[in-house]
Amino acid sequence: MSILSKNRFTITSALPYANGPLHIGHLAGAYIPADIFARFLRLNHKDVVFVCGSDEHGAAITIKAKKEGVTPREIIDKYNQQIKESFEEFGIEFDIYHRTSEKVHHELSQEFFMNLYEKGEFIEKFSEQYYDEEYHQFLADRYIVGTCPHCHNEGAYGDQCEKCGTSLNPTDLINPKSTLSGKTPVLRETKHWYLPLDKYQPWLEKWLIEGKKGVLKPNVFGQCQSWLKSGLQPRSMTRDLDWGVDVPLEEAKGKKLYVWLDAPIGYISATKQWALDNNQDWEKYWKKQADTSDDSTLIHFIGKDNIVFHCITFPAILHAHGDYILPENVPANEFLNLEGDKLSTSRNHAVWLHEYLREFSGKQDELRYVLTSILPETSDSEFTWKDFQARVNNELVAIFGNFVNRVMVLSHKYFEGQVSLGEALTEGDQATLDELASYPPLISQTIAQYRFREALSHFMNVARLGNKYLADEEPWKVYKENPERVKTVMYVAAQIVANLAVLSQPFLPKTANKLFAMLDMESQDWSRAGQQNLIAAGHVLSEAQLLFEKITDEQVDFQLQKLEEAKTKNAAAAAQAEPAKANITYEDFLKMDIRVGTILEAEKVAKTKKLLKLKIDTGIDQRTVVSGIAEFFNPADIVGKQVSILVNLEPRVIKGITSQGMILMAEDADGRLDFVNPTSTIKPGSSVR
Ligand code: 2FM
Ligand code: ZN
Repeated sequence: MSILSKNRFTITSALPYANGPLHIGHLAGAYIPADIFARFLRLNHKDVVFVCGSDEHGAAITIKAKKEGVTPREIIDKYNQQIKESFEEFGIEFDIYHRTSEKVHHELSQEFFMNLYEKGEFIEKFSEQYYDEEYHQFLADRYIVGTCPHCHNEGAYGDQCEKCGTSLNPTDLINPKSTLSGKTPVLRETKHWYLPLDKYQPWLEKWLIEGKKGVLKPNVFGQCQSWLKSGLQPRSMTRDLDWGVDVPLEEAKGKKLYVWLDAPIGYISATKQWALDNNQDWEKYWKKQADTSDDSTLIHFIGKDNIVFHCITFPAILHAHGDYILPENVPANEFLNLEGDKLSTSRNHAVWLHEYLREFSGKQDELRYVLTSILPETSDSEFTWKDFQARVNNELVAIFGNFVNRVMVLSHKYFEGQVSLGEALTEGDQATLDELASYPPLISQTIAQYRFREALSHFMNVARLGNKYLADEEPWKVYKENPERVKTVMYVAAQIVANLAVLSQPFLPKTANKLFAMLDMESQDWSRAGQQNLIAAGHVLSEAQLLFEKITDEQVDFQLQKLEEAKTKNAAAAAQAEPAKANITYEDFLKMDIRVGTILEAEKVAKTKKLLKLKIDTGIDQRTVVSGIAEFFNPADIVGKQVSILVNLEPRVIKGITSQGMILMAEDADGRLDFVNPTSTIKPGSSVR
């Protein structure tokens, strides 16, 4: 059954953390698709609420505040404003852009917690949690990083590995480190309230695996399947933090709700605030109705790193509560890469929306268009500036803009902008109009299936149809002999332009407005799409406006250079010395027996790239050491060299050779190695202290 048979829709886009500006990856992940979908539904007169807002709690915010030396409040106020403006500029038309720091949100989150608490849904448990002794703080979520036990990503957070999407507990991490002190944390006991996801597993399997097969996109369904297969574990819904929503229990004073409990409730509190502001009933959009056919259809647009929270945790919470509807679909997108590399905030490898708006003033739809063409709907995709230029110049300018411009210019030139039917339509005219009418259903179907890239390509085919029609009919040639025929040609062409105006509304809202203004027409709903007489004979068109301009090579070079500069800066930062390790005692140091030794022999270890087998005179003995320095030194060149050698390192067998000790090497940020050796000849066996 098509989703278009439903009447009421609750559409959400992931609440971005208010801890930094937005980049193109955000737009392509959760916002452009949701906006196209919501605009399309509204054009079809569906009852839609489309909500979003800033996610203003959790470690993402407090860590940023600490970095900038300001309060969390200053951080959220700054970025909430900036993010909100970016969305407005790009025409992402939420009914409300709310904030999770608002009172209505805190109250609703606490209400949810208490509802589950009073039903006895939580497991209350004392457990050992990581604690940073230097900062006197428990380390949850982003306060702790380590290696993901599933995919071995070294930058996994305490609650999730963003690389493979798996949700984690801090104690799952291999080699955990505090992001505050950089040190290995200790364990301390604390009490928390856990959501028993294992208890909901049978229900989730039924709802998700049985109920959503063929509904969820394969990338989303596959992730859910694999988590359920590995077995769900209880997850703590509370945290020892000082920023967030208070846990509403006397005995939990000072503790906060887990950000991933409160954030999705943010969708509901946003709807509540919108309803309050607009005299609407929020419950219609969130609560189960007496007649289930009146239930709203809930759709979460997100990026792939949020799938677990929207398909497992939040539905489990909604289910445990009992009064709420569950998501119909979660059309999560994969990741967008940039110029062959992952988008990265920390490395400044990104196209920031606020900078784009400054550097490409008025070109919001150009970016919407290009990002829609390359949305990572089924797998990761890539944005490059050359491709951006090509798509704008060869498609928007050369196909869409060019067609519209020719129709406007010729209509004004020949008929002072008046659209009129001259001679009767030919078979060719009719075939063109019939083909025109075939596109709106294709666009509708593909949007309804969240295939926005394909929908956009059908849309562009309408412009292609227009261009082909003009090229075939050549009105500029025919006019001299048969102006009446040209009237008809311009009439047909004007119908195509008017259809482009209607059909462009979900994708390119600013362009659609310009087109309607040029046509001197009110905006039209989707039911008018495909009609062959959208513009009545006798109607007079307004002045032509330029729809799109070419992107120049200079603009592209400027952007590429910016990315290069960021790379150079990163390399320079990486070249800076690593921070010092934790202190050790003098006794610790004395445990290491380091001597000056002389290399007597050196040869490559067969079938390896990096290893040399060395024979060293340590003053104590002559011994064999295997060292990973073959990429930097020729065996022949280092015979006779003096080196520092750790002689009391436990022997290890490397490639079948017993290595007795380790040569000390200096390694720079690029991984280049050199010896740590005396500047004059010293007797082998001399101690290094
Ligand atoms: O990943 C993020 O940026 C989160 N702030 C998304 C939250 S979505 C929702 F549930 F609020
Ligand atoms: Zn992982």
